[in-house]
Amino acid sequence: MDRRKAMKIFAGVVVGSGASAYTLSNVFKPEYQPMEGPRKLEYAHSESCWAYSHLDPAVTGELAYKYYEEGSCMYAVFKSVLSQLADKFGEPYASFPFHMMKYGRSGIGGFGTVCGSLNGAAALIGLLVEGNPIQDTLIAGLFRWYEKIPIPEFRPQTAILDFTPPSSVSESTLCHASVTNWVKISGYKADSGQRVERCRRLTSDVAYRTAVVLNEYFSNTYVAYGQDDKNVHECMTCHGSTGKLNNTFGKMECASCHTESIGHRIFANPHYSMKKVK
Ligand code: HEC
Ligand code: HEC
Repeated sequence: MDRRKAMKIFAGVVVGSGASAYTLSNVFKPEYQPMEGPRKLEYAHSESCWAYSHLDPAVTGELAYKYYEEGSCMYAVFKSVLSQLADKFGEPYASFPFHMMKYGRSGIGGFGTVCGSLNGAAALIGLLVEGNPIQDTLIAGLFRWYEKIPIPEFRPQTAILDFTPPSSVSESTLCHASVTNWVKISGYKADSGQRVERCRRLTSDVAYRTAVVLNEYFSNTYVAYGQDDKNVHECMTCHGSTGKLNNTFGKMECASCHTESIGHRIFANPHYSMKKVK
């Protein structure tokens, strides 16, 4: 038998046994809980002095675009909403120390962790919406949206840089992954003016979306939908608090960092089914 033929047979055996081990492994597959369907979120009235009033999302997006120049992404999203509430209600908004939100730039002080625009949106929810379960739902909705949607799509009335950035899907809420994904797709450098314009417009998209979410919540029409991601849902069946492993928590897209190893794909199910709960 020549060498090439032997290699082909060998490869066939490896692929074949891998595939059948994989099929066999599926016999041990745990039963996944059903995915959460659309769920109406009930508005909870509060006596807080931080009142809300319906905002125009397009105006909010334009304001974020402008404020980006003053203090970058987190600051821009936060101020785009709060400055409008300050115009309407005066105090306590008028004397809010907006400058503190500048810390969130480039994933918190340039560290590349959570995208600043999302951090600004979450800070708004923390200030305006009462109660952790409701805050968590609204934040998860925004963060999941950000992971999956191709952005930027915002078009400013007057562009600061006359450049229409291509959009990209981040698959991650991290500044680092979001920026670098875009750099790969667009071919521009991470420190280029084009990348800054991309983030400036993405910040407007997030501000726009935040205004939509707040409007819906405060008019009691918000429906939680799509927060539950199929992939994350499956991973958490075993690794989350209701699983036997119970060794992690979180809702972010697991696949942005973990590519499933072949060993995991083949052995996770039988290994798991034999595991005892500690
Ligand atoms: C059927 C249950 C099950 C599911 C579903 C599952 N895992 Fe696992 N996973 C395991 C078991 C069992 C181990 C071995 C860990 C041990 O024995 O402590 C493991 C180990 C891991 C490890 C450690 C290193 C490795 O690769 O072996 C990582 C990372 C991991 N899983 C990530 C994930 C991700 C991401 C998902 C979703 C795509 C996922 N798991 C879905 C059962 C599962
Ligand atoms: C931002 C990147 C990132 C994301 C997203 C992420 N992980 Fe991890 N994960 C890590 C790092 C880093 C470690 C620690 C180093 C390691 O063991 O790989 C880790 C460790 C783990 C381990 C333990 C591995 C071991 O060796 O025992 C499990 C299990 C795991 N992650 C599951 C998940 C699941 C499930 C999700 C989705 C909800 C997820 N991870 C999302 C980066 C990430």
